[in-house]
Amino acid sequence: MKKLGLVLMAVVMMGLSSCGSDNAKKAKEAANDAVEATTEAAKDAAETTKEAVKDAAEATTEAAKDAAEATADAAKEAVGGVNGEELFQTNGCTACHQPTAKTVGPAVNEIAKAYAGKKDELVKFLKGEGQAIVDPAQFAVMKPNLEITKKMTDEQVAAIADYMLSVK
Ligand code: HEC
Repeated sequence: MKKLGLVLMAVVMMGLSSCGSDNAKKAKEAANDAVEATTEAAKDAAETTKEAVKDAAEATTEAAKDAAEATADAAKEAVGGVNGEELFQTNGCTACHQPTAKTVGPAVNEIAKAYAGKKDELVKFLKGEGQAIVDPAQFAVMKPNLEITKKMTDEQVAAIADYMLSVK
């Protein structure tokens, strides 16, 4: 852009001092140079912008990938390789249990309150060895789902219990 300013100044100065056709020719040449310099400068600027946008996009993708990996790792570690929340979602529990709202079944945070400090009993219930304490009158609706949790490994049942107890 500095270059452009200088060239334009030269054009103006030549225009001022021009009175013959020689000077007119020089002015025309200078004007052409100015146009070229402008085009060049615009091209440079466009390329710089393109580079910067590409760099930013790459940095963003990289950061998003790192964050996703870190989140997945943390979730896995939290439950020793088994994700209780994922099990809760993939086994259909969310059809009747929302985290904080009563739907068909009690809200997960309500169940967590009833079983606070009683993880062993929650595990027992999920294994079909316990008694309903949250809403016993509705137990018939819950009962068929115990067939799913009864077939799970101890690790999976513990992960679901940990997840449910963690919902506030
Ligand atoms: C068809 C709806 C439905 C589905 C699906 C369902 N539940 Fe329930 N659940 C209920 C109802 C209704 C209750 C209230 C009755 C009760 O307290 O047992 C309940 C209660 C519970 C309780 C509290 C038990 C207690 O002591 O009263 C737990 C824990 C529970 N469900 C876990 C689960 C898990 C884990 C799954 C997924 C494998 C699941 N539920 C799927 C309807 C459902």
